[in-house]
Order: sequence, then C-alpha cells, then structure tokens
Amino acid sequence: MAVGVFDSGLGGLTVLAAAQERLPDVNFIYLGDNAHAPYGVRDADDIYQLTRSSVVTLWDMGCDLVILACNTASAAALRRMQEDGMPKGKRVLGVFVPLIEALTERQWGDNSPPREVAVTNVALFATPATVASRAFQRELAFRAIGVDVEAQACGGVVDAIEEGDMILAEALVRSHVDALLRKMPHPQAAVLGCTHYPLVEDVFKSALGPDVTVFSQPRLVAESLADYLGRHPQMAGGDAPSRCLTTGDARRVSDRATQFLRRKIAFEHI
Ligand code: DGL
Repeated sequence: MAVGVFDSGLGGLTVLAAAQERLPDVNFIYLGDNAHAPYGVRDADDIYQLTRSSVVTLWDMGCDLVILACNTASAAALRRMQEDGMPKGKRVLGVFVPLIEALTERQWGDNSPPREVAVTNVALFATPATVASRAFQRELAFRAIGVDVEAQACGGVVDAIEEGDMILAEALVRSHVDALLRKMPHPQAAVLGCTHYPLVEDVFKSALGPDVTVFSQPRLVAESLADYLGRHPQMAGGDAPSRCLTTGDARRVSDRATQFLRRKIAFEHI
C-alpha cells in the first residue's frame, strides 16, 4: 500500500516531488496517463472515463488514498466520482482545495458564509477544459465574495512540456500572460491552475512582474496532504516501495521526468 498520485502526464511530478520532500516516510505510486495526455483538450466525459480508470488501477494496486494531481481531472471528474460513491475505505482528493484555502486564507472546514478576502483581482491560468468547467470559480464562490477571476486557457503549454519543448512552452506562456494582461491589466494574484505549469513557473513570474503573487500547487498540496495524513494516518499506506508508472513509453517518460526533476526517475509501463 502507498499513496497514489495521478496525472494525465508529467505535471503531477511537481506535486509528487513536493510531497516526497514533505513526507519522506510515505511511499507513493505515481501514475501518469501519458498515452492519453493532454486531457485539457478533451471533453468532460472523456476526462471522467480516463481519470476513473487510472484511479481504479491505483486502488487495485492497494492505494487507499489517491491524489488527483491534475486540475483538469479534478475539475471534470472528482465531483462525479464522489457522487458515484467510492469503494469502502478508498478516498480521492483533488488539488483545488489547498489552492483556494491559500488564496482565501480560509480553512476548508470553515463553513461560515462567503466573505470578502484580501485579493480582489485574480488571474487564473489553466487548461481549456479546466477553464471551461468554471470549477475554480464555483469552489471559490463558496468561500469568497467580490473576487474577480479572469481565466486564460493556456492552449498548447501542456503539449509542449510533454514533448520536452521548453522553448515553445516558454513562448506560449508569455503569449498567454500577455493575453490575460490585456483583459485584466493589474491582477494582484495569479493562480497556476495546472500541475504542469510549475515547471515553467519562473516564466510566468517574469512575464507577470514582481507585483503579482503567484500561487502554485506543489507545496500547498504537499502541506495539505501532510495535514490530512496527520488526521487519517491509516490512509498513508504501508511499506510498499515507491514506483512511477506510465501508460506511455516508459523510456521516453523516464527521460523527460529525469530532465524536469533533475534526478534519475525510472518509469515502468503499465
Ligand atoms: N497537469 C494537468 C492539470 O493540472 C494537465 C492536464 C492536461 O493533460 O491537459 O490540469
């Protein structure tokens, strides 16, 4: 048993790395559905089916807790999976909650009515499917009022990163930031609402300028996972070794992962 971490591809590795650093005694099984990435250009039903199938794979491997380290899957599939009902003892957590907690400076369990928060102008960068779902705005509205969210669908960025073409990824990020700033010239905060984007976080920061606070998920999710496992220690799993699995080409994915995390990572094909 271990904690499962799922993403459509390589982006969830940014969450995995932060979680491993924060929780060195926890074992993780990472599953990247690289054969079907990117998810962000698929429709909601397709994303739901693909996500569900990977989560079931991780459950079957003994992971009681699966982190959807993918905003697109969290936006399109999490609520539906929860409504379908989870098998006994199994849980799935998404990655929006820690982000919104940080942005609104409220704890998730805080069920008081939505109220004004420090930020009023927020730029959201995410995949086309996440932007279309409006899941971020919906979750935010439960907690905060008076926040203007301008969303930018960052077409092409995930594909470029999956291909390891960081020059193209950088150029696309700059053009998406320009497009956002034309719609909202002075955001106070920017949310990187895709787990691939921390791999180009410096580019977002330099394009947005020093006055914009950038919220990025890896550390927030790792901290939230540590808090969750502190309250539910039985979900941390046992001493099964950590593994990285992919539905894609294991050698190619291992090379990219090693390039991104700057340490040797060996994926196995499933
Ligand atoms: N890392 C995924 C996310 O957080 C990328 C989705 C995709 O494959 O387009 O949204």
